[in-house]
Amino acid sequence: MAQDKLYRNLALGFAAYIVIAGLAGIFLLVSGKITARTDPNDTELVARGQTLHLRHCAKCHGENLEGEPNWETKKADGTYPAPPQDRNGHIWEHSDRELFDYVRWGGQANAPRGFKSGMPGYEKKLSKDEIWAILAYIKSRWPDDIRKRQALASFVGGIHSHY
Ligand code: HEC
Repeated sequence: MAQDKLYRNLALGFAAYIVIAGLAGIFLLVSGKITARTDPNDTELVARGQTLHLRHCAKCHGENLEGEPNWETKKADGTYPAPPQDRNGHIWEHSDRELFDYVRWGGQANAPRGFKSGMPGYEKKLSKDEIWAILAYIKSRWPDDIRKRQALASFVGGIHSHY
């Protein structure tokens, strides 16, 4: 009898292990897939992203990702100037998924009540792949330490919320 119980507990423990290992595996696969879509070492992807960035983003975020002057000071219309996308901003404190959503749906959709966003949504102008390519380009301009910190943010789901 006691032995039956032991076997049952062992079987349960084993089943739980399989489920947890499976979930961990799926998580790693999915996050790996997202990371591949924004791979800053993929030169073709980065070149495509740069062209798109120049066309759609540079007028606000700058041709060199430098952002607008005084980007931390609210403007008269209640919006903020566009922040830098290099290490001087805080874009790298967000996960890939957060950045993707911000670009796809725009700032207003992601902002808390009362925040007036100056960041347009690109749902109708850019395909999902084009948004990932732009993010790959932005990442390719970051130094190694910033890339590592953003990779960590992607893994844990963002390390900073600024609103
Ligand atoms: C009309 C100006 C404007 C354009 C064009 C624009 N942005 Fe923005 N963007 C902003 C502003 C302003 C913010 C600051 C937050 C807010 O107001 O919502 C911002 C914030 C962001 C953020 C939030 C994360 C962060 O902390 O920096 C991301 C990501 C971003 N922009 C990416 C892009 C990309 C990619 C494009 C081109 C496809 C783009 N933006 C085009 C104005 C712009």
